[in-house]
Amino acid sequence: MSGKLKPDIGKIVRYGPSRLYCPHLDRDDIQETDVLVLGSGAAGLMAALNAAEVCRVTVVSKGPLDEGNTAYAQGGIAGVFSESDSLEKHISDTVEGGYGLCREEVVRKVVSEGPELIRRLFEMGARFDRDEDGRLTLTREGGHHERRVLHALGDRTGREMERALGEAVKGSPSVRVMENTFAIDLLVDGDACMGALVMTPERRFRIVSARAVVIATGGLCQVYRETSNPETATGDGLAMAYRAGARVEDLEFVQFHPTTLYLAGAPRFLITEATRGEGALLLNVHHERFMPRYHPMAELAPRDVVSRAMLEEQKRTGSSTIYLDLRHLGAEKVRKRFPQITAVLKSYGLDVGTDLVPVCPSAHYAIGGVKVDLGARTTIGRLYACGEAAATGFHGANRLGSNSLLESIVFGATAGANAAAEALSAPHPEHPRLLGVCESGEKVDSAFPDVEIDVTDARNSLKALMWRSAGIIRDGAGLEEALSRIKFWARYLIYRRFTSPDGWELQNMLTVSRLIVDAALMRTESRGVHFRSEYQKTDPDWERHIYMER
Ligand code: FAD
Ligand code: SIN
Repeated sequence: MSGKLKPDIGKIVRYGPSRLYCPHLDRDDIQETDVLVLGSGAAGLMAALNAAEVCRVTVVSKGPLDEGNTAYAQGGIAGVFSESDSLEKHISDTVEGGYGLCREEVVRKVVSEGPELIRRLFEMGARFDRDEDGRLTLTREGGHHERRVLHALGDRTGREMERALGEAVKGSPSVRVMENTFAIDLLVDGDACMGALVMTPERRFRIVSARAVVIATGGLCQVYRETSNPETATGDGLAMAYRAGARVEDLEFVQFHPTTLYLAGAPRFLITEATRGEGALLLNVHHERFMPRYHPMAELAPRDVVSRAMLEEQKRTGSSTIYLDLRHLGAEKVRKRFPQITAVLKSYGLDVGTDLVPVCPSAHYAIGGVKVDLGARTTIGRLYACGEAAATGFHGANRLGSNSLLESIVFGATAGANAAAEALSAPHPEHPRLLGVCESGEKVDSAFPDVEIDVTDARNSLKALMWRSAGIIRDGAGLEEALSRIKFWARYLIYRRFTSPDGWELQNMLTVSRLIVDAALMRTESRGVHFRSEYQKTDPDWERHIYMER
């Protein structure tokens, strides 16, 4: 807990230019808003709604409004709603799950402000599952000692939250939505953020000038070959904030989820932990159950333990095959409780009543991000961050299932309210100044301008490297190898002037990977989701957060 935490430790890492693209624009290319929200997941939409109560808001989203990690969330959102539960119990479970690195004041804030915001979702029309008497049906997930996980439409919790929030945002006269618009970089003058450079769907550069900006761009797990995250999760907001000089924190803590569908040619579709909560078992290639040999909680052990046990079992049996067995739960029960999973498996010819489901662990959640305080403020003036893009200290060194949607709505609401309050008292950035800042970035022409880049190939090489060297089990030699390759690739990629989002995403992924590897090298211990094979013990000297800045 924070009282016992040792002081944060940091490192200056200079990597790449401070801006990716610095076009020449004029006044017609500037649009004004009061609060600019980058990202339209649970965090961004909650921020937008709160800010829109008092000022004009623009939401920028690189895809359709409802595309992002939020829409894929299955298990649910945690909150104290049952009579046997209490805020203190939820706080204590979260802190216990965080391996000594939770910030107590943050845990207290998220857990106690969460239920009120979940009620707001009810008012917006989010259809959380209830029993015949209208009582919420609450489930349990790993690390939660009480039933406190609310779910919607069975296993479509995120999609339903996104729908309700999206409709509320679209219905607000104070919010302008810019879909399929890519945020390239923040525009920072001195210590104040003044807006962002974006590319519109027509591939035109625009400046969105703002009196305060909220980063809600989600996670970064696309830097790994195996991931449960959709294509959007390339760490853009984190990379942008780092380039602009903001402090980033806890990047070594990437959570791996044990069970994503592992079928050649199929996406790594998540199979929720709630299936194991309902009794599903993990089997090795010989159809033997193995988790009881690894942990007393067997299949419901913490995610990092289950993921490592799966790797160990693959090594022991000489086969990459691991199955999730739902057959004994009864096809009808599974279909009712997990309709989406049943349908997806069916589309690949798998019947939950009779077939074993091949699964593998994959990168799932970024605990680290842009460092913020209790008010969602970053280290740059008028710049806020929330959701998976932010590092609040809520999850410590691990994260309990269903705690991230909760953190997203709580910090989203805080970021929106505080950004709006600040915007009301801040002047609009002056246009000449803004245009000057936009043009004034570092030179970003490649040293090898004539070399053709196959962006997809470079992206896949990076993802393979990160999976191999900075994945579930890490060691110094592998991390050093990753660092030197990332530095080498940077020589011809990071200063290159790309002109479309796929190139900028690649540059962001390189930046994020570099920061993850640096942080993982620094933490010479194992704690929570960070496991170093040559430092397997948790070291009390490392009861501290690691930050980086340029
Ligand atoms: P997101 O929902 O990812 O939204 C990010 C937004 O930023 C998107 O709109 C994206 O388009 C936009 N964006 C990104 N980059 C740019 C850019 N350059 N320019 C413009 N826009 C940009 N958590 C739980 O608590 N419970 C669960 O059951 C659960 N299940 C999960 C299942 C899956 C498969 C996954 C992937 C995650 C799950 N999580 C769950 C985690 C949780 O969903 C996320 O942590 C949370 O939704 C993050 O919300 P967010 O608003 O921060 O980001
Ligand atoms: C899951 O449903 O297993 C994922 C839940 C989470 O990541 O919080």
